[in-house]
Amino acid sequence: MAHAKSRSKKTILRSVLALGLVLGCVNAVKREDFKTCSQSGFCTRNRAYADMAKEDPKWASPFQLNPSSLRLKEGILTGDLFNTQESQQPASSAGLGFELHLLDNDVVRVRVNERDPIHPRYDGVQDTVLIKPYGFATEANIERLQKDDNGILTIQYGPNNRNTVRISSAPFKVEFLVNGVPTVLLNNDGLLRFERLRNKDDGVLGENKLVDQASEEGEGEIETQVEKSPLELKLEENSWEERFKEFTDSKPRGPESFGMDITFSGINHVYGIPEHATSLSLKATRGTGAPYSEPYRLYNLDVFEYEIDNPMALYGSIPFMLGHSKNNTAAVFWMNAAETWIDVEKSATDNNSGLLSWIKGKKPVQAASTKTHWISESGVLDVFVFLGPTQRDIFRQYSSLVGTTVMPQAFSIAYHQCRWNYNTQQDVAEVDAGFDEHDIPYDVLWLDIEHTNGKRYFTWDEAKFPNPADMQQGLANKGRKMVTIIDPHIKMDSGYHVSQQGADLDVYIKNKDGTSNFDGWCWPGSSQWIDFYNPKARDWWASLFKYETYVGSTKSLFTWNDMNEPSVFTGPEITIPKDVIHYGNVEHRNVHNLYGTMFHSATAQGLTERNETNQRPFVLSRAFFAGTQRYGAIWTGDNVASWEHLEIASPMLLTIGLSGVAFSGADVGGFFGNPEPELLTRWYQAGIYYPFFRAHAHLDSKRREPWLFGEPYTSQIREAIRTRYAYLPLWYTLFHEASIDGMPIIRPMFTVFPEDEAVFGMDDQYMVGDALLVKPVVKPGVTQSTVYFAGTEKWFDIKSFSVQQGPGAKEVDSPADRIPVYQRAGTIVPKRERIRRSSKAMENDPFTLVIALDSKGEASGKLYLDDGETFNYQHGDYILREFKVSTGTLSSRSLKPTTEPEASDFMQHKAGLRIERIVVLGLAAPLKQVRVADREIEVGCAQAAQGGHYVCTVKEPRVNIGKDFDLSFV
Ligand code: GLC
Repeated sequence: MAHAKSRSKKTILRSVLALGLVLGCVNAVKREDFKTCSQSGFCTRNRAYADMAKEDPKWASPFQLNPSSLRLKEGILTGDLFNTQESQQPASSAGLGFELHLLDNDVVRVRVNERDPIHPRYDGVQDTVLIKPYGFATEANIERLQKDDNGILTIQYGPNNRNTVRISSAPFKVEFLVNGVPTVLLNNDGLLRFERLRNKDDGVLGENKLVDQASEEGEGEIETQVEKSPLELKLEENSWEERFKEFTDSKPRGPESFGMDITFSGINHVYGIPEHATSLSLKATRGTGAPYSEPYRLYNLDVFEYEIDNPMALYGSIPFMLGHSKNNTAAVFWMNAAETWIDVEKSATDNNSGLLSWIKGKKPVQAASTKTHWISESGVLDVFVFLGPTQRDIFRQYSSLVGTTVMPQAFSIAYHQCRWNYNTQQDVAEVDAGFDEHDIPYDVLWLDIEHTNGKRYFTWDEAKFPNPADMQQGLANKGRKMVTIIDPHIKMDSGYHVSQQGADLDVYIKNKDGTSNFDGWCWPGSSQWIDFYNPKARDWWASLFKYETYVGSTKSLFTWNDMNEPSVFTGPEITIPKDVIHYGNVEHRNVHNLYGTMFHSATAQGLTERNETNQRPFVLSRAFFAGTQRYGAIWTGDNVASWEHLEIASPMLLTIGLSGVAFSGADVGGFFGNPEPELLTRWYQAGIYYPFFRAHAHLDSKRREPWLFGEPYTSQIREAIRTRYAYLPLWYTLFHEASIDGMPIIRPMFTVFPEDEAVFGMDDQYMVGDALLVKPVVKPGVTQSTVYFAGTEKWFDIKSFSVQQGPGAKEVDSPADRIPVYQRAGTIVPKRERIRRSSKAMENDPFTLVIALDSKGEASGKLYLDDGETFNYQHGDYILREFKVSTGTLSSRSLKPTTEPEASDFMQHKAGLRIERIVVLGLAAPLKQVRVADREIEVGCAQAAQGGHYVCTVKEPRVNIGKDFDLSFV
C-alpha cells in the first residue's frame, strides 16, 4: 500500500483515465497512446539507413566477411564479419561473428552476433522458444561446399540438392536459391546495420562516414567539418535515452538495435508476422503507392477497440513470414522477442529472378518481388530460412523448431459461453439452464474478473459464489466445464496469500535498479507482476493450481490468462517499461514479446501438474509468440461488435494459423458494444468455423446469450452451433494433423490451391482442412454471396447438397439462416449427427461419413480419435483411420504405424463405435446395391435439388469406426 500512497496525483489520474479507457468509455483506439516508427529511436535510425541506401545509386553494404576466416565444423560455418565504415572501435574490437547452421529438415539458420561485446548481448530466446534437440545436418549432407575465385562460397542441400546457399564476402550477402533461382536473399539491398554495444563516451561506431565524430549529446556541439543532413541526424536519434509522452526509457546499455533486408525474390505475396488487423496478403509499407506508411510493428500491447486495416502492434507477435508465388514458397523466422518493426515493399521487377529464369531456359521474365526490412531493438540477429518445397514442408520445418499445436482437451474445441461477467452462482445456473431450455449445446461457461474477491486471482467473491465447487459439479454433471480468469498482475496486499508468497519468494519483476519490485496499476489497483523468467516463480505459480491451494477449484475448472502483454495501465504504451529487470539480470526490452507465453506455459504446467493422472490442460491466452501453440489457445482480444470486425477476424485468424498458432478465435459477437441480432447471428455462423469458438462481451454491453433476441435468430444461432457440434470429429482430426506437422487448421485458399494465382490475395473465404470451403457473410442484408470455387472439381453445399463446378466465381445463396459452406469433391468428412447438450454427452455416439466423390469417383479422408482428455495418445493410445473410395469400394484402414503400441481397452471400445450412416455425394446414377462382406445394406437415393447428381444414404452398414472394412457399391 505504501507504494500506492506515494504515487503522484498525475499518475493516479492517468491510471483512472487508463482504466476508463480500457473499460470502453471512448469509442476508438487512442492511437496517440502507441508509438509510431518516428517516435521509436531504433526504428527511426534503421529506417533512415534504408533511406540513405536507397538515395545512393552506388550503395553497397559496408559489411564484409573475411573469406580466410570461414570454417565449417559439425554443420556450422563460422566467419568474421566487419563493418568497413567503422573507424572507432569499442573497448574490444573483435567485430561481429557470422554463423550459418545447416540443420536437419533442410532448415538453415543464419546468426550475426557481436564478438566479445562490453556486455553480453541477450541470446536467450532460443532457450525458451526452440524445442530440443534440433539436429545439425551431417557433414555428408553438406559435402558439396565450394568456394570460387571471388571468395563466394556455395553449399547445396535439400532434396536432390535443389537448394543452394551462396555466401558472398564483399559486400556481405547470403542468397538462397531453389533450382538455381534466387528465392530468399539476405542483405541483398545492403541494409544490414548492427549497433555494437559501447560506452556512452565511445562515440558513434559505424556510419562514421556520415556522422563523423559527432557528439552524442547535442547537435550544438558538432565541432567538425561536416554538417549533418536531417537523415544523418536521424541515424543518431534517441540513442541513449528516449522519451514518449510522460515516460522516459533510460536505456542503460544505449543503442543495440540491428536491421537487415530480406528479399523474397520472384515472390509477390508475403503473409504472416501477426498480430495485425490487416489483410492476409501483407500490404506494402514503403515504396510508391504503398497503402501503409508505418512498418508492421511486433510489440505485444493491450490495444482495445483496435483499428482495422492498420499495421499497429496488437496483443501477440510472431516474427514468421511466408512468401508464396506460383513457382515458389519460402519462409523465414526472425527469432527475436524484442520490439521489432518490419517494412514491406513490393517491387514490380527483380533483376535476379528475371535473369535466372532465363538461365533456366525460360524467357527472361521480370518477376515481381517483395523486399522486407526487419528491425529489432536488441538481442542477436538470428534468422531461419525454410525453402519447402511445399507449404506443408515449410509448416513441418518451422514446427520442427518451435513445436506444434498441443492436442487440446476435446471439450475445448466445442462452444464456449463467456461474458464479463456472469455475476453470481444463480446467474451461472440460469444461463446453463437457458442452453438446455433452448436445446443449444455448449461445453464451457466462463467467469471473468468480477468472480474474484477484489481481483485477487485464485479467490472467489464469496457472497456471489458461495459454493464454487458445487457450481462446477453442477456443470460437470452435464459434461460441461468452467473457466476462470487468472491474470499475471498481483494485487499488492499483504493479506492476500498470492501477493504475500510472491513477496516472500522474491519473484516479482524488478525496477531498473534490479532490487526494488516494480509496481503499476491494473484491474486490482496497485499491482506487481510475476517474473515468469524465474524458474522458481514458474514452479511456485504452477503449484497455485493444485486443488488444495486453489480453493474451490475442481477437475473441471480450466484457465484464462489475460492482460499478459503485460498490460500495465500506468506504463508507457499501457505496458511495462522496457528497463525493468527479470531474473538473471535480463532487461525486459529483450524479452517483451515472450512474457505472455512464459506466463501461459507456467499456467499450463500448473493445470497439468495438479492431477495425478495425466490430464491435458486448457489455457487461453491473449498475448502470444512463436511457440505459444505448445501451451494452448489464443484469441484476438478486444474487438468490436461491428461488421468490419467480423470481416477482419478471418484474415487475422488465417495469419495467426499459418504462423504456427492453429488454436485461435475471435470474440463471437464482438467484445465492445451491442451487436444487432443480424450481426450476432452472422458472427455465430462464421464463428463455428474458428478453431477456438467462444462468444464474449464487455461488462457494459447488453446480455446476448443465444436465445435473447427471439425468433428467427434463436433458431438460426442454434442451427449454427449444432453444425459446429456435428463437425467436431473433423475438427479433432484436424487438430491431430496440426499436432503432428504444424499444418494450420483453417487454411488460406492459397495453401490448398498453391497454383491458382486468383486466390493468393483471397482472405474473405477459406478452407477448414482440405475439405470445407467457408465464406462468412460480413455485410448486413446480404442474401447472395460471391464464392470462388477453386480447382477443376465440384463443390457440394453442406446443407442442400447442391453442386458448383470449379474453377470460377459464382453467385450463391446466403440466406439469413446459413452462410455458404461447401465440401470439396474428393474428400470424406467424419461427423456426428446426434446433437446433445455437450460434446462429452456425444462421445459415444455413432458416426456419419460424408463422401464427396470427385470426377474419377474417388475420395479420401481421415479420422483421429483418442480419449479426448489425457496424454495417453502420446503412447499410442489412439485411433487413426483413413477412408478411401476408389473403383466403387469404400475401404477403412488404420494409419497408425505398426511400431506404435496397441490402443488401450478404452480405445478398443471406442474403435467399436459404429458408423450409422454414409452419405455419398456426386453420383451420376442412384446406387443399386451396397454390400459389406456378404451382407447387403439398405440404401436410399434422391436427386439433389440442383446440379443433377444423386445423393445416396447408406443406413446402418454395421461397420465400426476403428476397424478395417470394405464396402462396395454399384
Ligand atoms: C480484457 C480482456 C477481456 C476481458 C477484460 C476483463 O479487456 O481482453 O476479454 O473481458 O479484460 O477481464
